[in-house]
Amino acid sequence: MDVFKVSRSGPLKGEIEVGGAKNAALPLLAATLLTDEAVTLRNVPDLSDIRFMVEILSHVGSEVENPEPGVWKLKAAELTHIAPYELVRKMRASVCLLGPLTARLRKAEVSIPGGCVIGPRPIDLHLKGLAKLNCEVEITNGYVHVDASKIQGGPVFLGGRSGSTVTGTANIVMAAVLAPGTTRIECAACEPEVVDLCNLLVKMGAKIEGIGSPELTIEGVEKLHGCEHSVIADRIEAGTFIVAAAITRGDVTVKGIPPNLLGAFLDKLEESGVPLKIEGDNIRVLPYEGSLKPVDCITLPYPGFPTDLQAQLCALMTQVEGISIITERIYPNRFMHVPELQRMGADIAIEGPSAIVKGASKLSGAPVMASDLRASAALILAAFAATGETWIQRIYHLDRGYERFEQKLAGLGAKIERLSDKDMPKELLEA
Ligand code: EPZ
Repeated sequence: MDVFKVSRSGPLKGEIEVGGAKNAALPLLAATLLTDEAVTLRNVPDLSDIRFMVEILSHVGSEVENPEPGVWKLKAAELTHIAPYELVRKMRASVCLLGPLTARLRKAEVSIPGGCVIGPRPIDLHLKGLAKLNCEVEITNGYVHVDASKIQGGPVFLGGRSGSTVTGTANIVMAAVLAPGTTRIECAACEPEVVDLCNLLVKMGAKIEGIGSPELTIEGVEKLHGCEHSVIADRIEAGTFIVAAAITRGDVTVKGIPPNLLGAFLDKLEESGVPLKIEGDNIRVLPYEGSLKPVDCITLPYPGFPTDLQAQLCALMTQVEGISIITERIYPNRFMHVPELQRMGADIAIEGPSAIVKGASKLSGAPVMASDLRASAALILAAFAATGETWIQRIYHLDRGYERFEQKLAGLGAKIERLSDKDMPKELLEA
């Protein structure tokens, strides 16, 4: 098994290119099932989650080509309607097959994705949305069975206890684009990844109004056609690199990220005193003296502060004089990074949905475990500010969402290398 060995690093210096967004690419790949013509996607990140989604799509019948790195060409001529448990259980985003299979075949059988370390991952809103489109939806033996023989556009409200649902919105939009009649989605997710999906669907011939707003109106069409589309930049990868620069007081330009994709995040960093220079689609983090200021932050649906950058902000705030309160409103127990940061010497208390971060802590390297994809990234950022070595095990979590993570960071001068767990000091190996 691979591990990361990370040592105190910085100041990081140089330029880093942001890759394509994982959370856009996954629904975009699922959307290729909506036509029997070829769809070519470019700027697709090379991640285990992507390879996994492609495996599921070929399992249901897609012809898949990968003519060059980052380019995938898919043609869903003949399809079966079943996405089996042994494939779906490994990646929650495979739930995005529900909408396209329902729309294209008028039936679907998709295993219910399991929970994960950040908490239960219900899909009740996805199913409610399909039922509102006059589909028969039933759950038996851990599978969602959809009979869409009488599918019909209609009003759908997608608000849940934590706001809207990103992949739920993706599923209902993908079901509605081929459903006869008009579908009006209220409380649709506005994340850039949903906008990117809608833009692909319009290129394929779908009729969607209100893209980027919480109200989407979709006129169903008979058929969609093939096209080419480039995946938007990964705002979460970009935010992770920006924190890597800030926590090491570096001078780093993160390239190829439209700043409007990171509004709330950049606003919070500026509030803390991180010097940022926006140059078109490049964000430059500048060095600073003294301490940043503590911040209070609440994660919210877009355009609020993204939950996927909460752990990274936590890591940064451990190095800031004062008390920061970071509240997680999307996944209330998304704090797997906290016990590991505490082992490195951070002073963080969890009070309900909030992490109370008291800084600045002197962090020291420790053997830690990766868990949630983003929590794992936060541990690496903290390790850059820690004395000594930090060994990070189970880094397959990171490989799901960050392409060549250690190479990109090492290119900025970070002391991070990918080794085998056989290289770890024996006493540190996980029991
Ligand atoms: C997407 O997950 C992302 N994943 C997540 O990124 C991200 O954290 C999340 O959106 C929130 O922004 C992908 O896009 C593949 P939700 P998704 O449905 O769609 C509740 C990462 O690190 N909910 O918007 O699964 C749910 O429990 C991953 O890249 C219901 O109650 O998230 C949560 O509290 C992690 N019922 C909230 O809504 C439902 O039917 C938001 O979930 C669906 C969701």
